Amino acid sequence: MRVFDLFNISMNIVMKGTGSAVPKRRVTNEELGRMVDTSDEWIASRTGIRARHIAVEETTTSLAVEAAEKALDDADVKAEEIDLIIASTVTPDQFLPNLACEVQAAIGAKNAAAFDVNAACSGFLFALNTAAMYLKGSGAKTALIVGAETLSKIVDWKDRSTCVLFGDGAGAAVIRAEELDVCSGILSMVQGSDGTRGGALKCGGRPLNNPFVTQQAAQAYVSMDGQEVYRFAVRTVPKVIRQAADEAGMSLDEIDLFLLHQANVRIIEAAAKQLSQPMEKFPVNLPEYGNLSAASVPVLLDYVRKQGRIQSGSRLVLAGFGAGMTWSGAVVVW
Ligand code: UT7
Repeated sequence: MRVFDLFNISMNIVMKGTGSAVPKRRVTNEELGRMVDTSDEWIASRTGIRARHIAVEETTTSLAVEAAEKALDDADVKAEEIDLIIASTVTPDQFLPNLACEVQAAIGAKNAAAFDVNAACSGFLFALNTAAMYLKGSGAKTALIVGAETLSKIVDWKDRSTCVLFGDGAGAAVIRAEELDVCSGILSMVQGSDGTRGGALKCGGRPLNNPFVTQQAAQAYVSMDGQEVYRFAVRTVPKVIRQAADEAGMSLDEIDLFLLHQANVRIIEAAAKQLSQPMEKFPVNLPEYGNLSAASVPVLLDYVRKQGRIQSGSRLVLAGFGAGMTWSGAVVVW
């Protein structure tokens, strides 16, 4: 059992390592065009997506474990050193046990407290922010954050307006509380929610099997008012980024990279334009992966690190938005 003490306020919360995993099976837009009435031309021009990876043998748990192991390796941290695991997903393999406990068991992180959060596509950032606050306000030193999804199991493969958008994958990061003289780690965190707009992007749960209730089965697949979500994203993302930069005492020009939730390249381009920042500072991987919901930001972070675009001292903005509606941002100095 972990006892949290409230004495760690002056600690820097630094990122130590990242990892990611995607399923082997790659599905192109052309292949989807043989399943529903769509085309590579429509999908690529409206979203920027050209392919996605779909779990066949993999599960949310297996992808999460693979990403977590890679992040530990990258951070050079042993599983027993982890005090806290927070996993974010909207597609766990089962209700119980939670994904974080599944990861804990698989990697042998026997000293960790482990729980899940659900904030849809903002989930990784909500988990990161929660973990950072735990580390700031307690004796816990090291946390593992995971965002993992197999959205393929909750999309309606007959609905062309949603099935072309999403993919499966997992990303993870190890963070640690350290006393440092330099200004490093997570400098600001911003998050918010507007439950009154929840109807724009939803997915029902399991059909009820309660002999005391007579009720229609809930919609079991993702449904979305795409244009409503699009307008919300274009309005919200630049605000979140400005607020996170302001809180960190940085101008937007001082930020090296903006790592945004990968839902639609047009949303990212609109954000870049509103912030008067060049698109080169907004890396994208959605042409290859599609929208990975809670896995989107950590998979992108790992992807960009592997490209060698993040060095010690790099100034990053991470930002996400999604169902709920929810939004979140952070400024991180690597
Ligand atoms: O992670 C957060 C959640 N998601 C998002 O951030 C998504 C935000 N929204 C979007 O990215 C865009 O709204 C979409 C990509 C989902 C849709 O693009 P759009 O430009 O808003 O298209 P639309 O929904 O206005 O549809 C335009 C047309 C419609 O046909 P009609 O009514 O004009 O004849 C749709 O039926 O495109 C049709 N359509 C398709 N056609 C071919 C919708 N999906 C497809 C498809 N292939 N896959």
